[in-house]
Amino acid sequence: MFRAGFITVLFVLSLFSQAFSRVSGPCSNCHTMHNSQNNSPMTFNNSTQPNQMLLRGDCLGCHAQGGTEAIVTIGSSQIPQVYQKSSEDLAGGNFAYITGLKQGKDGGSGDQYGHNVVSIPGIEVDSITNSFAPGAFPGNGHPGKVFQGVGLTCAGQHGCHGIRGNSLAPMAAIKGAHHRDVDGLVNGTDVASSYRFLLRVKGYEVSDWKNSSSSHHNEYYGLKTPYDDLNINCKCHSGSIDGYTVIPVPPDGTMGEFCATCHPTFHNARYTSRWPDVSSPWLRHPSDYAIPNDGEYADYNNGTLTYSTTAPVARTTWPISGISSSVTPGEDAVTCLSCHYAHAGPYPDMLRWDYSKCESGNASPDECGCIVCHTTKGD
Ligand code: HEC
Ligand code: HEC
Ligand code: HEC
Ligand code: HEC
Ligand code: HEC
Repeated sequence: MFRAGFITVLFVLSLFSQAFSRVSGPCSNCHTMHNSQNNSPMTFNNSTQPNQMLLRGDCLGCHAQGGTEAIVTIGSSQIPQVYQKSSEDLAGGNFAYITGLKQGKDGGSGDQYGHNVVSIPGIEVDSITNSFAPGAFPGNGHPGKVFQGVGLTCAGQHGCHGIRGNSLAPMAAIKGAHHRDVDGLVNGTDVASSYRFLLRVKGYEVSDWKNSSSSHHNEYYGLKTPYDDLNINCKCHSGSIDGYTVIPVPPDGTMGEFCATCHPTFHNARYTSRWPDVSSPWLRHPSDYAIPNDGEYADYNNGTLTYSTTAPVARTTWPISGISSSVTPGEDAVTCLSCHYAHAGPYPDMLRWDYSKCESGNASPDECGCIVCHTTKGD
């Protein structure tokens, strides 16, 4: 009797720990009802200004503390840090390379190292691009212009996370997601069940936000061949949720299309290929395109076919069956995150490696990610 009950409890517990990474612990760890106790403020930074949703911090107060830990523990919850100076960066990267809180691996730092999220203290509108998003549609400059002179925020209208609705405040854009966060396989139905709260993005989340080895990493979802043109029928604006309509979302739920909601011509087949001929010779590097199962590509990562965290691939089969350490040419695809970090990284252009070390005839897959796929070009 006792034994059976014990096993049931264990089973239920393990079900929960695998299925959810949602916030837990006493309400008072994160919330304050009046921002006052013993007549003193209760915000994390002792600000007398209360935060939205009665929180003790805003997005940055919790996620961009600028300290020496990649993950900060508050009660029983762990808060992933996107602006911090520890030696380790989480999978999304680290905005510290923009301000110089952390030096890039090439010794530099600055606006070209990442997305200028202007709500982070010390980060302004991008000094090089004036925050116009490169890769906008030719002619009208949409969607690049949306951010011009304004910059990016974490969430909401000018952000990436949550519902990207007009004049929607960041906290309103992710309302309820932290308390319902789904872990592991995420299908994009709502914000809580989208990949890292990026609405409609599908994937498989690693539980500790770390891409640390070939067998421990996030899994991105991709396509074998990219969508022809996100501009046709305003494909990006097909999102509708909680009364918000025509909001930008990736139509097929891939990470590449998500990036393309702001950088469309770097993704769409019409602008990357001699469309309708979606094949080599290319005009721009393809993304959401399957690595061919022949030639140099069949030898991905020195012929080991082992997943590389330097130049990762996206999976094109849904549902993704879990975290896998092997790569299958013909099935797995190149995506934006094969070469870039999402937030910011240790090299210019947010690249995952030092592009200046990529020399034809003299480069290894360890220091130049291009060689992970273009296996013959380093010899
Ligand atoms: C580890 C931090 C944390 C703890 C602990 C926590 N919350 Fe929250 N809560 C948040 C964050 C962050 C938000 C705002 C963002 C969101 O909704 O995703 C939020 C939003 C909310 C909201 C508004 C969104 C909605 O779902 O309607 C309510 C209500 C709420 N919390 C109640 C509670 C209560 C009650 C407790 C204790 C039983 C609690 N919270 C414990 C972090 C926390
Ligand atoms: C009170 C502290 C607090 C605030 C404020 C807060 N977060 Fe979080 N956030 C957490 C904690 C704790 C987690 C880890 C638990 C989880 O995944 O829900 C988390 C997780 C996340 C994740 C990862 C979700 C995943 O799938 O693993 C994202 C993305 C995120 N927060 C974005 C935001 C954004 C955007 C805001 C502001 C609009 C915000 N957070 C405000 C505490 C906070
Ligand atoms: C909400 C719009 C938006 C989304 C989504 C978006 N970007 Fe950007 N991106 C911008 C803007 C605006 C700029 C130019 C200003 C800046 O660099 O901050 C930019 C700049 C860049 C740069 C140049 C960085 C620099 O500073 O020189 C790269 C690389 C990039 N994005 C890659 C990506 C990738 C990869 C994704 C998907 C993971 C993505 N972007 C998603 C808006 C976006
Ligand atoms: C994750 C794998 C991957 C990585 C990393 C990668 N590529 Fe590619 N690359 C591809 C694939 C797949 C194609 C399309 C192949 C085809 O159509 O047969 C391609 C195409 C190209 C082409 C055009 C070839 C043509 O036939 O038109 C060039 C040039 C190229 N890549 C250079 C680079 C460089 C330089 C880097 C590093 C900055 C890089 N690639 C990184 C997978 C990758
Ligand atoms: C094969 C590697 C590779 C892939 C895949 C890739 N990029 Fe890039 N990206 C680069 C390199 C290298 C640069 C530097 C500029 C150049 O070589 O054209 C760059 C530059 C950029 C820039 C800055 C452009 C500027 O004007 O400053 C943006 C934005 C960008 N990439 C977005 C994306 C997006 C979005 C995707 C996916 C749709 C993507 N990239 C896929 C390698 C890649």
